[in-house]
Amino acid sequence: MYYSDEVVEEVRSRNDIVDVIGSYVNLKRKGNSHSACCPFHHEKTPSFHVSREKQMYHCFGCGVGGNVFTFLMEHENFTFPEALESLAERAGYDLPKQEMSAEAKRQADARTKIKDMNKLAAGYFHYLLKTDHGTNAFQYLKDRGLTDETITKFGLGFSDVYSDDLYKYLKNKGYKDDDLKDSGLVKYDEKHGFSDRFWNRVMFPIIDTNNRVIGFGGRVMGDAKPKYINTQDTLVFDKSRNLYGLNLAKKSKRPGIIFCEGYMDVISMHQAGFDNAVASLGTALTVGQVNLIKRFTDRAYLAYDSDEAGTKAALRALEIMREFEMPARVISLKPYKDPDEVIRAEGTEGMEKRIGEAKSATMFEIDVLAHNYNQEDPQERTQFQKEAAKRLSLISEPMERKNYIDSVAKQYDIDRDSLKEAVTQYGITGATKVDTFAFRDRNRKSPEEEKEQQQLKSERLLISWLINENALFDVLKNMISPDDFFEPVYHDVIKELYEQYNRDGKVTPAAIMNHYQSKEEHEKVSMIMQQDFDMEIPQSEKSKVVTDLVKTIKLRSIEHQLEMTKGDLTKQSELIMAKVKIEKMKPINTFR
Ligand code: GTP
Ligand code: MN
Repeated sequence: MYYSDEVVEEVRSRNDIVDVIGSYVNLKRKGNSHSACCPFHHEKTPSFHVSREKQMYHCFGCGVGGNVFTFLMEHENFTFPEALESLAERAGYDLPKQEMSAEAKRQADARTKIKDMNKLAAGYFHYLLKTDHGTNAFQYLKDRGLTDETITKFGLGFSDVYSDDLYKYLKNKGYKDDDLKDSGLVKYDEKHGFSDRFWNRVMFPIIDTNNRVIGFGGRVMGDAKPKYINTQDTLVFDKSRNLYGLNLAKKSKRPGIIFCEGYMDVISMHQAGFDNAVASLGTALTVGQVNLIKRFTDRAYLAYDSDEAGTKAALRALEIMREFEMPARVISLKPYKDPDEVIRAEGTEGMEKRIGEAKSATMFEIDVLAHNYNQEDPQERTQFQKEAAKRLSLISEPMERKNYIDSVAKQYDIDRDSLKEAVTQYGITGATKVDTFAFRDRNRKSPEEEKEQQQLKSERLLISWLINENALFDVLKNMISPDDFFEPVYHDVIKELYEQYNRDGKVTPAAIMNHYQSKEEHEKVSMIMQQDFDMEIPQSEKSKVVTDLVKTIKLRSIEHQLEMTKGDLTKQSELIMAKVKIEKMKPINTFR
């Protein structure tokens, strides 16, 4: 879906950033600025600032920042069009409809209808849970240790004992039999007509990352079979591309995503504070699900059941994770069966400890291998060691391979040198790129990066000055041009600011943000926009500071042009003259 610049700007200007962000975080007002503890990282004192004047936000703690669109993209993990659509809806603004083919339109309408029916059904199930009809179901959830808050957070519900209760409810709301057939909520057969798919079950709505109810899981309250019924695939429900709990987990500040097997495990984990837990929808982990979480995280943890089936599922999941380059670790739940049991037995602390001790994929795999052989029998033990060596030979990074050889030798009491030799024998096929959590520290920079940052800082600061002191535009426009700016994002920003100023006599920083869609660009731009110098620099110093910035930027720009025009003598002498002029430049006087 493509939206024009005008539409984007219209939607942005109709959504005041303070109101939008204020509905997510508790903003405290201080002068023109509103601040809060940053929703994107853990902190105790507020360094997250929102400016109504600039219609931007920025966190001085972790560097995030942007306009209303960025905020929703970050906070809800929306794509740009999703953020735009959600804000348009919020402001009651009708987005222009793109021409769709008749078939595409029919499909889109059908999808909307199914989502609407699901939403109604979820609301109805939740309502029933709190009435007399739902007493048993409610008690069942309470007995399993869930708080009222958790029940509400997950929108849990109850489907009534009558087999056509929901069918009647939705008919009453005006839906036709044909609509209902597509919804996955009812079944139809010639003999019995319509009946509900779910009845007399505790209901778990499955919510996608856009916060829409796309399906349900329903659990019997007891030992009857089948334990769970899930929505079958519909136009909006694809089991292989969604994850239970991801609507909440995507907002988590905890590192990584924790995969559990069951819905109840996810709920129990969230209640214990592990709000980054998700589960597959009654199937094994799929490629689509790994791709889905790549949008939200850079590592996965597996908290699968500790029984044989769970171990098998974990091994298979690790293969997929490896194939799709998602670093993964395995959390041991032994002697308990599943995360729910661990939390009941050991609480949040116990689970936290287990997460901290999670095994790398390689160590987990070798561990499973070790259990398949009788370590007391020399022949079996040899076999195990060979298999382990084979596994280790897959590690392509030499240092990492060496470390693993050391660990495995130690843990399984194998002679280190023989193990090393065996590993070498199996050769380095280089199959694994992501074996451990070799997560790079995002904040650490190389010396070259450090130097470049210093250079770019002056460009950034000068733009900040212009935004804060609009009078500078008139002075600087003949002195420095967008082409003097090295960093492409800054070049574009300054160009746009000049244009805005020439056209409107003022600048609208947040509108510039509309042109950028990547997180890095947004952080870059918001950092410039959010600087406020007035408090930091005495009036008398300002001219000097700005002059120095202009000099630095100009001189580097000239150096660059000298490089580019080598051989062109006329041009070169012009540039050298310009250089001398800049070097001798007197402080610009603009501040009154
Ligand atoms: P509790 O037993 O209530 O703790 O449920 P759980 O969510 O922990 O489920 P369990 O570990 O038994 O199973 C893991 C997941 O497999 C469930 O959340 C369901 O998605 C799925 N599942 C389990 N039993 C069935 C079943 O009988 N039919 C279907 N289709 N899926 C099931
Ligand atoms: Mn369970």
